[in-house]
Amino acid sequence: MTTLSLGENIPTRFAESTFRANPYPVYTVLRRCAPVMQMEAAFGGHPWLVTRYEDVVSALKDPRFSSDPRDMGLQNRRMNAWWMPRVFGILQNSMITNNDPAHQRLRSLVHLAFTPKRIEQISGRVEQITHELLDQAGRKNRIDLIRDFALPLPLTVISDMMGVPQAERAGFNRAVAPFLESLAGSPLKILAQYPNANRLMSFFERMIALRRAEPQDDLLTALVQAEQAGDRLSEDELLSMIFLLLLAGHETTVNLIGNGTLALLEYPEQFQRLHDDPDLIERAIEELLRYANPVEHGNPRFLTEDVTLHGVTLPKHSHVLLMIASANRDETVFEHADRLDLARQPNRHLSFGLGAHYCLGAPLARLEGKIAIQALVQRFPNLKLTIPAGQVPWRTAIAVRGVKALPVQMN
Ligand code: HEM
Repeated sequence: MTTLSLGENIPTRFAESTFRANPYPVYTVLRRCAPVMQMEAAFGGHPWLVTRYEDVVSALKDPRFSSDPRDMGLQNRRMNAWWMPRVFGILQNSMITNNDPAHQRLRSLVHLAFTPKRIEQISGRVEQITHELLDQAGRKNRIDLIRDFALPLPLTVISDMMGVPQAERAGFNRAVAPFLESLAGSPLKILAQYPNANRLMSFFERMIALRRAEPQDDLLTALVQAEQAGDRLSEDELLSMIFLLLLAGHETTVNLIGNGTLALLEYPEQFQRLHDDPDLIERAIEELLRYANPVEHGNPRFLTEDVTLHGVTLPKHSHVLLMIASANRDETVFEHADRLDLARQPNRHLSFGLGAHYCLGAPLARLEGKIAIQALVQRFPNLKLTIPAGQVPWRTAIAVRGVKALPVQMN
């Protein structure tokens, strides 16, 4: 095992809001001195962190880095422990936590709904939601950009696509947000989420019953029908698919819009540049994905055999975190990696992962990001933070990377 003293207590600080605000100096040291390092996680276990770009790329394509938690062996199988609420176990068995061919079978049931062509067809609706939210924000003037814009936009879009009734949407987010935070905490913190877990389960069951009774032209109906066809989707797979799509469909994009806006406010000359040259938006979104990192690390990987990296042998069953946020700031790949440059090209960031599990929702996230950021910058050129950037509170949820609130003045 690599032991390292950085003057930084990474293990205990990893999930803290202050560390999340700016983990990059620590990642820089890790890439240079300990590109593969084991830590003791507050959420249990001893995951290895892989921080260099080339290593993250290789691992994402390497079948020895399994996505299936059953490859973790006997250690830390707390998700299957008797005291664990059922919903946590269900979460563990979706396309993202399976290897091919099981992964491919699940992905193929929904991938057609997320192709760039299908997504382009909903751009008018995304524009409409964006401008409605910004109209309201403009009238209020002082808002929390997360609560009033960055969150409701992707939540509305994915709920529309799935067919979640209006009245249920906010309740789903209220249950899911603390649930995600708890996964980064101790078993006690997870158990405290038991009522929320139950709320989520009954929400899914209500959705399924609704579509069984009254099929509609939406993804929920398509999934319920796949489950009814028996051999295509089991009931647990149906529950986990709905959960994954709703969760991944908004818990990440909110951070692209939130962290992206914060980055633009911290670099006013880049904000101005985009305002003056709207055609920059395609490249700007890629750079905000790279620089602002809506996802800190990919889904955990588990080794199917011993793997040696930079002279360190990681034993079979090791739990490995591929640190996308670090890879995206790797100075050996990106010139002036810590600088926001909206015109950056090429920009081979890893924000949507790579390989078999490459983000299914990437076309949707890009579309939402482009429309949201463009509208915000063009309509509100005087947008500013109402607190110092250093006081913006960061979430401690596992895997994703985003701010809890972003207080801004629109005009
Ligand atoms: C800026 C927004 C987003 C970011 C940064 C992002 C990032 C990622 C990453 C890094 C992965 C790969 C995880 C891994 O290999 O461990 C992934 C997978 C996935 N994402 Fe996204 N995502 C975003 C938006 C979305 C949206 C809008 C959806 C819509 C439903 C979505 C659905 C999925 C699904 C279903 C997977 C699993 C794919 C598979 O296992 O084959 N994502 N995402």
